[in-house]
Amino acid sequence: MRAVVQHGTGGPEVLEVADRPEPTRKPGEVLVRTEAIGVPFYETQLRSGLIPAGPAPAVFGHEAAGIVVEADDETLLGRRVVTMSFTGGAYAEVVAASQYTLVPDTVTPEQAVAAAVPASVALALMHTADVEAGETVLVEAVSGAIGGYLARLAERRGARVVATAGKGKADIDHHDPDWRQKVPEGVDVVFESIGGPRAAELLAKLAPHGRILAYGLLSGEFPTFPVAGLIARGITLIGFGGPDAYGKRVAAVRAEALGLVADGTLTPVLDRTYALADVAAAHARVESREGVGKVVLIP
Ligand SMILES: NC(=O)c1ccc[n+]([C@@H]2O[C@H](COP(=O)([O-])OP(=O)(O)OC[C@H]3O[C@@H](n4cnc5c(N)ncnc54)[C@H](OP(=O)(O)O)[C@@H]3O)[C@@H](O)[C@H]2O)c1
Repeated sequence: MRAVVQHGTGGPEVLEVADRPEPTRKPGEVLVRTEAIGVPFYETQLRSGLIPAGPAPAVFGHEAAGIVVEADDETLLGRRVVTMSFTGGAYAEVVAASQYTLVPDTVTPEQAVAAAVPASVALALMHTADVEAGETVLVEAVSGAIGGYLARLAERRGARVVATAGKGKADIDHHDPDWRQKVPEGVDVVFESIGGPRAAELLAKLAPHGRILAYGLLSGEFPTFPVAGLIARGITLIGFGGPDAYGKRVAAVRAEALGLVADGTLTPVLDRTYALADVAAAHARVESREGVGKVVLIP
Protein backbone atom coordinates (compact mmCIF):
# COMPACT_ATOMS: atom_id res chain seq x y z
CA MET A 1 0.00 0.00 0.00
CA ARG A 2 0.98 3.64 -0.32
CA ALA A 3 1.62 5.46 2.92
CA VAL A 4 3.25 8.63 4.23
CA VAL A 5 6.34 7.91 6.31
CA GLN A 6 7.83 10.46 8.70
CA HIS A 7 11.64 10.61 8.61
CA GLY A 8 12.65 12.59 11.70
CA THR A 9 11.31 16.03 12.62
CA GLY A 10 11.37 19.21 10.59
CA GLY A 11 9.51 20.87 7.71
CA PRO A 12 6.87 19.19 5.51
CA GLU A 13 9.72 17.55 3.52
CA VAL A 14 10.27 15.01 6.34
CA LEU A 15 7.03 13.35 5.18
CA GLU A 16 7.60 11.01 2.22
CA VAL A 17 5.20 8.82 0.26
CA ALA A 18 6.45 5.22 0.18
CA ASP A 19 5.29 1.66 -0.42
CA ARG A 20 4.73 -0.14 2.88
CA PRO A 21 3.26 -3.52 3.79
CA GLU A 22 -0.41 -3.38 4.79
CA PRO A 23 -0.89 -3.47 8.58
CA THR A 24 -2.26 -6.62 10.15
CA ARG A 25 -5.23 -6.43 12.47
CA LYS A 26 -5.04 -7.49 16.14
CA PRO A 27 -8.12 -8.95 17.84
CA GLY A 28 -10.57 -6.14 18.62
CA GLU A 29 -9.23 -3.94 15.83
CA VAL A 30 -10.84 -3.17 12.48
CA LEU A 31 -8.92 -3.05 9.21
CA VAL A 32 -10.10 -0.12 7.11
CA ARG A 33 -9.52 0.87 3.49
CA THR A 34 -9.26 4.63 3.88
CA GLU A 35 -11.28 7.19 1.89
CA ALA A 36 -10.32 10.41 3.68
CA ILE A 37 -7.55 11.30 6.15
CA GLY A 38 -7.63 14.34 8.43
CA VAL A 39 -4.72 16.77 8.87
CA PRO A 40 -5.26 18.51 12.24
CA PHE A 41 -3.07 21.40 13.35
CA TYR A 42 -1.35 19.45 16.14
CA GLU A 43 0.06 17.01 13.57
CA THR A 44 2.13 19.86 12.10
CA GLN A 45 3.54 20.40 15.62
CA LEU A 46 4.27 16.67 15.94
CA ARG A 47 5.99 16.67 12.55
CA SER A 48 8.09 19.75 13.36
CA GLY A 49 9.16 18.35 16.72
CA LEU A 50 7.38 21.04 18.80
CA ILE A 51 5.34 18.22 20.38
CA PRO A 52 7.43 15.10 21.10
CA ALA A 53 6.54 12.25 18.72
CA GLY A 54 7.27 8.51 18.68
CA PRO A 55 10.24 6.86 16.96
CA ALA A 56 10.83 7.54 13.23
CA PRO A 57 10.65 6.38 10.51
CA ALA A 58 7.00 5.44 10.95
CA VAL A 59 3.71 5.84 9.11
CA PHE A 60 2.33 9.22 10.21
CA GLY A 61 -1.25 10.31 10.97
CA HIS A 62 -4.06 9.68 13.45
CA GLU A 63 -7.51 10.23 11.94
CA ALA A 64 -9.05 8.44 8.95
CA ALA A 65 -12.46 7.47 7.58
CA GLY A 66 -13.07 4.50 5.32
CA ILE A 67 -14.69 1.13 4.75
CA VAL A 68 -14.17 -1.84 7.07
CA VAL A 69 -12.54 -4.75 5.23
CA GLU A 70 -11.74 -6.97 8.23
CA ALA A 71 -13.26 -7.13 11.73
CA ASP A 72 -14.13 -9.56 14.54
CA ASP A 73 -17.78 -8.54 14.09
CA GLU A 74 -18.79 -9.50 10.53
CA THR A 75 -21.72 -7.05 10.53
CA LEU A 76 -19.11 -4.28 10.35
CA LEU A 77 -17.76 -5.45 6.97
CA GLY A 78 -18.51 -2.90 4.25
CA ARG A 79 -19.60 -0.26 6.77
CA ARG A 80 -18.04 3.21 6.89
CA VAL A 81 -16.22 4.07 10.10
CA VAL A 82 -13.98 6.84 11.32
CA THR A 83 -10.86 5.68 13.18
CA MET A 84 -8.51 7.19 15.74
CA SER A 85 -5.04 5.82 16.33
CA PHE A 86 -2.82 7.40 18.99
CA THR A 87 0.35 5.74 17.70
CA GLY A 88 0.12 6.90 14.08
CA GLY A 89 -0.50 4.91 10.92
CA ALA A 90 -3.45 6.87 9.48
CA TYR A 91 -1.75 8.47 6.44
CA ALA A 92 -2.12 5.23 4.49
CA GLU A 93 -4.39 3.33 2.13
CA VAL A 94 -5.12 0.76 4.86
CA VAL A 95 -5.31 1.38 8.61
CA ALA A 96 -5.73 -0.95 11.60
CA ALA A 97 -7.44 0.71 14.57
CA SER A 98 -9.00 -0.25 17.88
CA GLN A 99 -10.92 3.03 18.24
CA TYR A 100 -13.60 3.43 15.59
CA THR A 101 -17.11 4.83 15.27
CA LEU A 102 -19.76 4.08 12.65
CA VAL A 103 -20.41 7.01 10.30
CA PRO A 104 -24.10 7.81 9.56
CA ASP A 105 -25.07 7.15 5.91
CA THR A 106 -25.62 10.83 5.08
CA VAL A 107 -22.18 11.90 6.33
CA THR A 108 -19.36 11.83 3.74
CA PRO A 109 -15.86 10.49 4.58
CA GLU A 110 -14.46 14.05 4.35
CA GLN A 111 -17.14 15.34 6.75
CA ALA A 112 -16.50 12.39 9.06
CA VAL A 113 -12.79 13.24 9.49
CA ALA A 114 -13.63 16.94 9.73
CA ALA A 115 -15.99 16.20 12.63
CA ALA A 116 -14.93 13.01 14.41
CA VAL A 117 -12.22 14.44 16.62
CA PRO A 118 -12.95 18.17 16.86
CA ALA A 119 -16.76 17.92 17.15
CA SER A 120 -16.50 15.21 19.80
CA VAL A 121 -13.81 17.17 21.71
CA ALA A 122 -16.08 20.25 21.54
CA LEU A 123 -19.09 18.24 22.72
CA ALA A 124 -17.14 16.69 25.61
CA LEU A 125 -15.80 20.15 26.59
CA MET A 126 -19.34 21.55 26.48
CA HIS A 127 -20.65 18.75 28.71
CA THR A 128 -17.72 19.35 31.12
CA ALA A 129 -18.24 23.13 31.23
CA ASP A 130 -22.01 22.68 31.60
CA VAL A 131 -22.66 25.96 29.80
CA GLU A 132 -26.09 27.43 30.62
CA ALA A 133 -28.43 29.76 28.72
CA GLY A 134 -27.57 33.40 29.28
CA GLU A 135 -23.90 32.76 30.11
CA THR A 136 -21.10 34.54 28.25
CA VAL A 137 -18.57 32.18 26.72
CA LEU A 138 -15.14 33.07 25.29
CA VAL A 139 -14.12 30.76 22.45
CA GLU A 140 -10.46 31.19 21.46
CA ALA A 141 -9.45 30.29 17.87
CA VAL A 142 -13.03 30.06 16.64
CA SER A 143 -11.55 29.66 13.13
CA GLY A 144 -10.17 26.29 14.21
CA ALA A 145 -12.17 23.10 14.07
CA ILE A 146 -12.81 22.66 17.80
CA GLY A 147 -13.42 26.39 18.26
CA GLY A 148 -16.01 26.49 15.47
CA TYR A 149 -17.97 23.58 16.93
CA LEU A 150 -17.72 25.05 20.46
CA ALA A 151 -19.26 28.32 19.29
CA ARG A 152 -22.15 26.51 17.59
CA LEU A 153 -22.80 24.25 20.60
CA ALA A 154 -22.67 27.20 23.03
CA GLU A 155 -25.12 29.22 20.92
CA ARG A 156 -27.39 26.19 20.81
CA ARG A 157 -27.43 26.24 24.62
CA GLY A 158 -28.47 29.92 24.57
CA ALA A 159 -25.08 31.33 25.57
CA ARG A 160 -23.56 34.58 24.25
CA VAL A 161 -20.33 33.83 22.37
CA VAL A 162 -17.29 36.12 22.29
CA ALA A 163 -14.78 34.77 19.78
CA THR A 164 -11.16 35.26 18.73
CA ALA A 165 -9.46 34.31 15.45
CA GLY A 166 -6.96 35.60 12.91
CA LYS A 167 -7.52 39.12 11.55
CA GLY A 168 -10.93 39.60 9.93
CA LYS A 169 -12.24 36.17 10.97
CA ALA A 170 -13.76 37.18 14.35
CA ASP A 171 -14.36 40.29 16.46
CA ILE A 172 -11.08 39.85 18.37
CA ASP A 173 -7.82 39.28 16.44
CA HIS A 174 -5.81 36.85 18.57
CA HIS A 175 -2.59 37.67 16.74
CA ASP A 176 -2.65 41.09 18.38
CA PRO A 177 -0.42 40.46 21.46
CA ASP A 178 -2.82 42.58 23.56
CA TRP A 179 -6.00 40.85 22.39
CA ARG A 180 -6.96 39.78 25.92
CA GLN A 181 -7.53 43.44 26.84
CA LYS A 182 -10.34 43.54 24.24
CA VAL A 183 -12.31 40.72 25.91
CA PRO A 184 -15.34 42.18 27.71
CA GLU A 185 -15.58 41.70 31.48
CA GLY A 186 -17.99 39.21 33.02
CA VAL A 187 -17.10 36.10 30.99
CA ASP A 188 -18.53 32.96 32.62
CA VAL A 189 -16.63 30.30 30.65
CA VAL A 190 -13.31 30.45 28.77
CA PHE A 191 -12.44 27.69 26.31
CA GLU A 192 -8.66 28.20 26.36
CA SER A 193 -6.72 26.76 23.43
CA ILE A 194 -3.95 29.30 22.75
CA GLY A 195 -1.96 28.96 25.99
CA GLY A 196 1.18 30.82 27.01
CA PRO A 197 1.97 32.93 30.09
CA ARG A 198 -0.35 35.75 29.00
CA ALA A 199 -3.40 33.49 29.39
CA ALA A 200 -3.37 34.70 33.03
CA GLU A 201 -4.59 38.12 31.79
CA LEU A 202 -7.97 36.49 31.22
CA LEU A 203 -8.51 36.09 34.97
CA ALA A 204 -9.49 39.76 35.22
CA LYS A 205 -12.16 39.20 32.55
CA LEU A 206 -13.89 36.32 34.31
CA ALA A 207 -17.06 36.71 36.33
CA PRO A 208 -16.73 35.55 39.96
CA HIS A 209 -17.04 31.76 40.00
CA GLY A 210 -16.22 31.62 36.29
CA ARG A 211 -14.54 28.57 34.81
CA ILE A 212 -11.63 28.07 32.45
CA LEU A 213 -11.34 24.92 30.37
CA ALA A 214 -7.71 24.65 29.26
CA TYR A 215 -7.45 22.16 26.41
CA GLY A 216 -4.90 23.35 23.83
CA LEU A 217 -1.54 24.99 23.22
CA LEU A 218 -1.82 26.57 19.78
CA SER A 219 0.95 29.02 20.73
CA GLY A 220 3.21 26.04 21.50
CA GLU A 221 3.13 26.76 25.26
CA PHE A 222 0.80 25.56 27.99
CA PRO A 223 -1.19 28.36 29.66
CA THR A 224 -0.07 29.53 33.09
CA PHE A 225 -2.46 30.81 35.76
CA PRO A 226 -1.39 31.97 39.26
CA VAL A 227 -3.29 29.98 41.86
CA ALA A 228 -3.68 33.17 43.91
CA GLY A 229 -5.68 34.67 41.03
CA LEU A 230 -7.98 31.66 40.97
CA ILE A 231 -8.57 31.65 44.74
CA ALA A 232 -9.26 35.38 44.99
CA ARG A 233 -12.13 35.18 42.47
CA GLY A 234 -13.36 31.64 43.15
CA ILE A 235 -12.48 30.58 39.62
CA THR A 236 -12.45 26.94 38.56
CA LEU A 237 -9.62 25.81 36.27
CA ILE A 238 -10.29 22.55 34.45
CA GLY A 239 -7.55 20.88 32.45
CA PHE A 240 -8.99 18.81 29.62
CA GLY A 241 -6.78 16.36 27.75
CA GLY A 242 -4.61 13.29 28.10
CA PRO A 243 -5.69 9.67 27.77
CA ASP A 244 -8.65 9.99 30.17
CA ALA A 245 -10.35 12.93 28.46
CA TYR A 246 -9.21 12.18 24.96
CA GLY A 247 -9.46 8.41 24.95
CA LYS A 248 -12.56 7.98 27.11
CA ARG A 249 -14.74 11.08 27.49
CA VAL A 250 -14.22 12.18 23.89
CA ALA A 251 -14.67 8.68 22.44
CA ALA A 252 -17.89 8.33 24.48
CA VAL A 253 -19.55 11.23 22.62
CA ARG A 254 -18.17 10.57 19.12
CA ALA A 255 -21.34 8.85 17.88
CA GLU A 256 -23.43 11.71 19.36
CA ALA A 257 -21.21 14.25 17.59
CA LEU A 258 -21.54 12.46 14.22
CA GLY A 259 -25.31 12.31 14.84
CA LEU A 260 -25.33 16.12 15.24
CA VAL A 261 -23.60 16.34 11.85
CA ALA A 262 -26.13 13.96 10.28
CA ASP A 263 -29.11 15.98 11.61
CA GLY A 264 -27.61 19.29 10.46
CA THR A 265 -26.93 20.78 13.92
CA LEU A 266 -23.18 20.84 13.25
CA THR A 267 -21.75 21.60 9.82
CA PRO A 268 -18.18 20.41 9.21
CA VAL A 269 -16.14 23.06 7.45
CA LEU A 270 -13.82 21.72 4.76
CA ASP A 271 -10.89 23.79 3.55
CA ARG A 272 -9.09 21.83 0.81
CA THR A 273 -8.45 18.24 -0.19
CA TYR A 274 -5.06 16.96 -1.37
CA ALA A 275 -3.90 13.67 -2.88
CA LEU A 276 -1.82 11.56 -0.46
CA ALA A 277 1.24 12.29 -2.65
CA ASP A 278 0.75 16.01 -1.97
CA VAL A 279 1.03 15.60 1.79
CA ALA A 280 3.76 18.27 2.05
CA ALA A 281 1.46 20.81 0.41
CA ALA A 282 -1.35 19.79 2.78
CA HIS A 283 0.88 20.41 5.82
CA ALA A 284 2.08 23.71 4.37
CA ARG A 285 -1.56 24.74 3.90
CA VAL A 286 -2.43 23.98 7.54
CA GLU A 287 0.65 25.88 8.74
CA SER A 288 -0.09 28.86 6.48
CA ARG A 289 -3.28 29.52 8.50
CA GLU A 290 -4.78 30.93 5.31
CA GLY A 291 -7.75 28.62 5.23
CA VAL A 292 -10.71 27.97 7.47
CA GLY A 293 -11.79 24.37 8.02
CA LYS A 294 -10.34 20.92 7.66
CA VAL A 295 -7.54 19.96 5.31
CA VAL A 296 -8.12 16.40 4.10
CA LEU A 297 -5.88 13.89 2.30
CA ILE A 298 -7.51 11.58 -0.25
CA PRO A 299 -5.61 8.26 -0.59
N1 LIG B 1 -7.43 18.49 24.93
C1 LIG B 1 -7.83 17.72 23.95
O1 LIG B 1 -8.43 16.68 24.19
C2 LIG B 1 -7.53 18.13 22.54
C3 LIG B 1 -7.94 17.35 21.47
C4 LIG B 1 -7.65 17.77 20.17
C5 LIG B 1 -6.96 18.95 19.97
N2 LIG B 1 -6.55 19.68 21.05
C6 LIG B 1 -5.85 20.96 20.88
O2 LIG B 1 -6.81 21.97 20.66
C7 LIG B 1 -6.25 23.03 19.89
C8 LIG B 1 -7.17 23.37 18.72
O3 LIG B 1 -7.22 22.25 17.87
P1 LIG B 1 -8.02 22.30 16.47
O4 LIG B 1 -7.97 20.92 15.91
O5 LIG B 1 -9.32 23.01 16.64
O6 LIG B 1 -7.07 23.21 15.62
P2 LIG B 1 -7.26 23.67 14.09
O7 LIG B 1 -8.57 23.32 13.55
O8 LIG B 1 -6.08 23.21 13.35
O9 LIG B 1 -7.24 25.25 14.26
C9 LIG B 1 -6.13 25.93 14.62
C10 LIG B 1 -6.45 27.42 14.48
O10 LIG B 1 -5.85 28.06 15.59
C11 LIG B 1 -5.28 29.27 15.20
N3 LIG B 1 -3.86 29.31 15.61
C12 LIG B 1 -2.85 28.58 15.16
N4 LIG B 1 -1.72 28.92 15.78
C13 LIG B 1 -2.02 29.91 16.62
C14 LIG B 1 -1.28 30.70 17.53
N5 LIG B 1 0.04 30.56 17.68
N6 LIG B 1 -1.95 31.62 18.25
C15 LIG B 1 -3.26 31.77 18.10
N7 LIG B 1 -4.01 31.06 17.24
C16 LIG B 1 -3.39 30.15 16.52
C17 LIG B 1 -5.41 29.37 13.70
O11 LIG B 1 -6.47 30.26 13.47
P3 LIG B 1 -6.23 31.67 12.72
O12 LIG B 1 -5.67 31.34 11.39
O13 LIG B 1 -7.60 32.26 12.64
O14 LIG B 1 -5.26 32.43 13.57
C18 LIG B 1 -5.82 27.97 13.25
O15 LIG B 1 -6.74 28.00 12.19
C19 LIG B 1 -4.85 22.56 19.50
O16 LIG B 1 -3.90 23.12 20.38
C20 LIG B 1 -4.92 21.05 19.68
O17 LIG B 1 -3.66 20.50 19.95
C21 LIG B 1 -6.84 19.31 22.32
